[in-house]
Amino acid sequence: MNGAEVLPATRPLRGTATVPADKAISHRGAILGALASGTTHLRGYSSAGDCRSTLSVLRALGVAIDADGQDVRVEGWGESGPGVPGAPLDCGRSGTTMRLVCGALAGFPLKAVLTGDPQLLARPMERVAEPLRAMGATVATAAGGVPPVGLRGGTLRGIEYEMPVASAQVKSAVLLAGLRASGPTTVTEPAISRDHTERMLRAMGARVEESDGVESGRRVRVEPSGLQAVELTVPGDPSSAAPLLVAAALVPGSDLTVRGVGLNPTRTGLIDLLRRAGAEIEVEEAGGSGEPIGNVRLRHRPLHGTEVGAAEIPSMVDELPLVGLLATQAEGVTEVRGAQELRVKESDRIAVLVAGLRALGAAVDELPDGFVVTGPTPLRGADLDAAADHRMAMTFAVAALVASGPVRVSGMESVGDSFPGFMATLQGVR
Ligand code: S3P
Repeated sequence: MNGAEVLPATRPLRGTATVPADKAISHRGAILGALASGTTHLRGYSSAGDCRSTLSVLRALGVAIDADGQDVRVEGWGESGPGVPGAPLDCGRSGTTMRLVCGALAGFPLKAVLTGDPQLLARPMERVAEPLRAMGATVATAAGGVPPVGLRGGTLRGIEYEMPVASAQVKSAVLLAGLRASGPTTVTEPAISRDHTERMLRAMGARVEESDGVESGRRVRVEPSGLQAVELTVPGDPSSAAPLLVAAALVPGSDLTVRGVGLNPTRTGLIDLLRRAGAEIEVEEAGGSGEPIGNVRLRHRPLHGTEVGAAEIPSMVDELPLVGLLATQAEGVTEVRGAQELRVKESDRIAVLVAGLRALGAAVDELPDGFVVTGPTPLRGADLDAAADHRMAMTFAVAALVASGPVRVSGMESVGDSFPGFMATLQGVR
């Protein structure tokens, strides 16, 4: 089996690390910048492959983008709207690109086809097609509700939409379409998902109101509005800090600081969970406008099992495979439920995680909507398949640090989708 071989750690993780800019905020900065009047300046745009897909889709829509390394300037189309794409828009492997761009285009009189890599062509798109249809757009998906997505935008009406799943991508798509609707649009989510779109819309002049107390979720209302360009500095991605922090939580004696990480409370579920499981964590806030930012220091301490339920899932949705790994070294039972969304990410992350952890020797039970891990168990070297899924590849590479022999991970190159240079960064702190 081909793949990257990762060796067990021979010493604790120590020192400091930085991580790529936040992927979710980068996508939004570029897409909202395209909708705005004026030039949006993004300092520290993510180097992730997914975020490059967003820039190339926007360019195909006629948006002038000046990208100098991580410094990106987006010339908004404002009231004149996007250009008509001459070919299908290639979203690569990025679900965020496809779903948010559908919402951004729905209020303009054009036809577009959105497509992508085979991995993206298997992911559910009816979740955005359905509310956009209710607003007045014409949206077609392929058999099974997957891409390519055929979209004909036009005149939209505001809707009141109750999302069946807590998805920031769906919420964002509906809010972006709502900017062009004839009246206000309201989205109710069953659990609180990341609110980067809401924060950025406000910073760009839109009227967005939020009310909590809707069961465990939140209601968000946007009024039709144009957007004004902004300047923003993108914080480090907490989902990329996660594999480093979990590595430090697993390897005895570790003391690691990740600097300049985004601390938006809708994204910090893993930090809360690590604390609950026994790790010693200090968070030093370091400013940030619009999005809080800071340094996170983690010192290894003995770990114990914990529970994660549906209300908490969106705050750590991309970190849940790491939670499963962490649990193998924690005393007692860790139970994750309400995480059925993991089955429709870049891979079926529940199935891939359970197979990988079992091959490593862990005691894990698969649930339809999560998993149960009983620990601690020693882990052994193994050949693992990350199913070309960046989050799984990073989880398995971190597992190698506490295994008794080498772990060979196939699909390791996928880490570039969110964290180019991941292995070098991990190497730098061990
Ligand atoms: C994202 C939201 C989450 C997350 C994805 C990025 C976003 O997906 O898993 O990696 O940028 O809005 P869902 O909204 O589908 O839960």
